[in-house]
Amino acid sequence: MGIKSPGGRGFGRAEPRIGPARAHTLHCAAPRLKVSGFFDLPRKHRTMRSHYCGQLDSTHIDREVTLCGWVHRRRDHGGVIFIDLRDREGLVQVVYDPDVEEVFQRAEQVRSEYVLCIRGRVRRRPEGTENPELATGEVEVLGLDLEILNRAETPPFPLDEHVHGVSEELRLRYRYLDLRRPEAHHRLRTRSRVTRALRRFLDDAGFLEIETPMLTKATPEGARDYLVPSRTHPGRFFALPQSPQLFKQLLMMSGMDRYYQIVRCFRDEDLRADRQPEFTQLDIEVSFMDEDALTGLMETMVRELFREVLEVDLPDPFPRMTYAEAMRRYGSDRPDLRVPLELVDLGDLMRDVEFKVFSGPAQDPKGRVAALCLPGGGSLSRKEIDEYTRFVGVYGARGLAYVKVNQVAKGREGLQSPILKFLPDAVVEAILERTGARDGDIVFFGADRAQVVNEALGALRVRLGEDRGLVDDAWRPVWVVDFPMFEWDEEARRWNPLHHPFTAPKDEQIDLLREDPGACHSRAYDLVLNGSEIGGGSIRIHRAEVQRQVFDLLDIGPEEAEQKFGFLLRALGFGCPPHGGIAFGLDRLVALMTGAASIREVMAFPKTQTAACPLTDAPSEVSPGQLRELHLRLRGSQGAAD
Ligand code: AMO
Ligand code: AMP
Repeated sequence: MGIKSPGGRGFGRAEPRIGPARAHTLHCAAPRLKVSGFFDLPRKHRTMRSHYCGQLDSTHIDREVTLCGWVHRRRDHGGVIFIDLRDREGLVQVVYDPDVEEVFQRAEQVRSEYVLCIRGRVRRRPEGTENPELATGEVEVLGLDLEILNRAETPPFPLDEHVHGVSEELRLRYRYLDLRRPEAHHRLRTRSRVTRALRRFLDDAGFLEIETPMLTKATPEGARDYLVPSRTHPGRFFALPQSPQLFKQLLMMSGMDRYYQIVRCFRDEDLRADRQPEFTQLDIEVSFMDEDALTGLMETMVRELFREVLEVDLPDPFPRMTYAEAMRRYGSDRPDLRVPLELVDLGDLMRDVEFKVFSGPAQDPKGRVAALCLPGGGSLSRKEIDEYTRFVGVYGARGLAYVKVNQVAKGREGLQSPILKFLPDAVVEAILERTGARDGDIVFFGADRAQVVNEALGALRVRLGEDRGLVDDAWRPVWVVDFPMFEWDEEARRWNPLHHPFTAPKDEQIDLLREDPGACHSRAYDLVLNGSEIGGGSIRIHRAEVQRQVFDLLDIGPEEAEQKFGFLLRALGFGCPPHGGIAFGLDRLVALMTGAASIREVMAFPKTQTAACPLTDAPSEVSPGQLRELHLRLRGSQGAAD
């Protein structure tokens, strides 16, 4: 691609090609930006600098340069001052001799994070003082002049990689300093390259970038809404969009044919490492394409993205897996295929065993009994097994039965387990055969409602993979398809959509909507990468009567449907094309690509886990006057709203 050697963590340390495992520890190696034609710009567009610090190398020797940046470090060495000057592109060493006294005196005044403009001559470093850790390590700049553009207070934490002991609250309060760290620069830079590559692909593929409103009506994506009170309409509220779902569908009805938008979405939900209250989607919708064509186009886009940004070749095509298979083999609809362990069903073997813990769920149509074999797990200590038992407890599992397989050939004698006494020989043999357990392995068991077993063993599978170093160093994308349309909410005694309520059922199953909603499958698809759901979408309902039927099933009666979605139902009646789309979680995608542990690391100004911004102190109180204007009164406060 004609781009210089990539800069890794730290300042511009050359890194080899990056794989996912490396990405998890070393962070993404974004090539240094090629500032093509930058210095050929007309004078009025030029900046104060002639070069970026991090760009200098032996080709610049004897050149006079002007650099602008921050003092990363200053060292006095027997009458010589060394300043490591840092800018966006990296760091270079500048040396001041006492020859020019006035300049030297200024150099003596500088401290960490002062902003300087320096002039100097590039020279080769004296033999033996080169720094191979630094992209600019072959050279240094002999300082000829120095201007202090601004002074700086001592930062509240060190601005290098060593931020691990620093609380996130403090880092976010001083986010502008936190972002000076090279690692943070790399992440935001990679993010920018990702959006650039995506835009280019979509523009070339004939997509139109169209904006949709932020002040709008609730869109049901399963979270709480962020509400904005209206001043001009007393007692009424806008909702910030949970996604542009309905607007993009309306754009299809407007004949736009191919739409995309890199768009902020707002969801008031419980936050986790991969969830933020405001996050960014790459949102896409197309007309007259079926799910195969659309997912095919999308995976081409993702493949090209990975090739361009990470120089990684993803599989072609991406594998596809039904929801049922994902749940059966991995206990999850976002399976991490890098972990080679799989769940194995044992329900049929356990129906009649005396151990009620197993026979109960085996006889219950909503129950599941499954095993997970960990090769070499026989060496796990009692303490480790207890810890895993606690771990599955978080997911509601009431225990974690196990069998240690010491010697298969010895039959029952070669096994070690607290539950062996409850299981007949034939069942024990069948367990060993089905799980493929060998000498030295351990087999774990889960028995409960299927949802509990899936969540518990699904999570245990990934945890064991990580703890035992079994996670494959690869990128493993997979499309998950054939989702059920609805899931039954036992508490509320109603159907809920697995995706949103605008998702189309399979054409051949339309009748099931009436007869057996639980058996009805949708035309939805999720893209999962290394166990993270990076995108989800569906072919939509494009006929008003089907949409009404689905609303009805979801207990959204005609009146409520009219009040919430009347505009959609009306639009469907004016010649709506068949259409479908997808939205990618851009933050999640970039977090994966840069090996970030949380999506907060790839957002410039994220919120804390409690959905607050320590930098600006948002959310904050507002004046009584503002409340009055908005016709609001806080509970327990004085004064009336009109
Ligand atoms: P969905 O709700 O699955 O679909 O969202 C699409 C993708 O957005 C990402 N995502 C999030 N990322 C960070 N923080 C969050 N709180 C968060 N919530 C979701 C995920 C997810 O895969 N309108 C539909 C798409 C469609 O049908 O076209 C939608 O929003 O990566
Ligand atoms: P108990 O009979 O309750 O002492 O359980 C015997 C073994 O079965 C213990 O190892 C428990 O951890 C395990 N166990 C109990 N309930 C379950 C369950 N629902 N699923 C899997 N293992 C269980």
